[in-house]
Amino acid sequence: MSRPEVVDSVAALRAQVSDWRRDGLRVAMVPTMGALHEGHLSLIRIAREKAERCVVSIFVNPAQFAPSEDLDKYPRQLARDLDLLATVKADLAFTPTVGAMYPAGFATRISVGGPSAGLESDFRPTFFEGVATVVAKLFLQATPDCAVFGEKDYQQLCVVRQLCRDLDLPVEIIGAPTIRDAHGLAMSSRNAYLDEAELAVARQLNAILRRAAAALAAGTHQDDATGEAGRALIAAGFQKIDYVEARESLTLAPWRRDHAGRVLAAAWLGKTRLIDNVEVPTV
Ligand code: PAF
Repeated sequence: MSRPEVVDSVAALRAQVSDWRRDGLRVAMVPTMGALHEGHLSLIRIAREKAERCVVSIFVNPAQFAPSEDLDKYPRQLARDLDLLATVKADLAFTPTVGAMYPAGFATRISVGGPSAGLESDFRPTFFEGVATVVAKLFLQATPDCAVFGEKDYQQLCVVRQLCRDLDLPVEIIGAPTIRDAHGLAMSSRNAYLDEAELAVARQLNAILRRAAAALAAGTHQDDATGEAGRALIAAGFQKIDYVEARESLTLAPWRRDHAGRVLAAAWLGKTRLIDNVEVPTV
């Protein structure tokens, strides 16, 4: 198993993608911030099924972190990431520097409405601007045919879909199911911050959301179902709940009965903020 080729300049990335295109190959992209885990690897496996070549970007994007957030502490482990990329046969790793992505004088931000309203944006008001800006740049740099994003960051997936639709970016966005540990905890680079006791609490998040989704499907009013989930999270040991809400799956508008829905939540365990979401089952 050999590590993928690594490029850190847009020119080298474009040269490689052009070569593939000349050979008639379809190109997939998986944007990441590194600290790769099984969740990312599952995205790359899907990308490899959808295209003959797969580019993985590894870039901890400062534009999506607020000053109070964990930009400095965010795990960076490129050598380990490249070893993991070898196991899933990624073809190319794109590892730009902050200076290359945001050179002096950089002054453009992309703001996406629609699905970015509420949820994460109520607590991280500049987050999706940062995500949309970097994803648009990555797509214009790599010009992939398709890109794979995890449903774990469900609102992000909806925002990226909206971005491509609104800006006519010719990239097919593929949503991939969340990968969980044996106890239901969604894989996340931030799980590395949790100690053993916090991990035991974190592992209850998904079951609590599934109970809320089942209650909604069974006819419970959404304020009751999500309110009960919030109380259950506090009882489990979460210290603060940012939100537990039911939204429509496609638009993220407030959920209406008989529409496809998701229950989404963000909650704090010590200094770590965890998010998760589940589908409302259809009955
Ligand atoms: O989901 C992430 O890791 C990031 O938000 C992304 C999509 C790579 C943009 O920086």
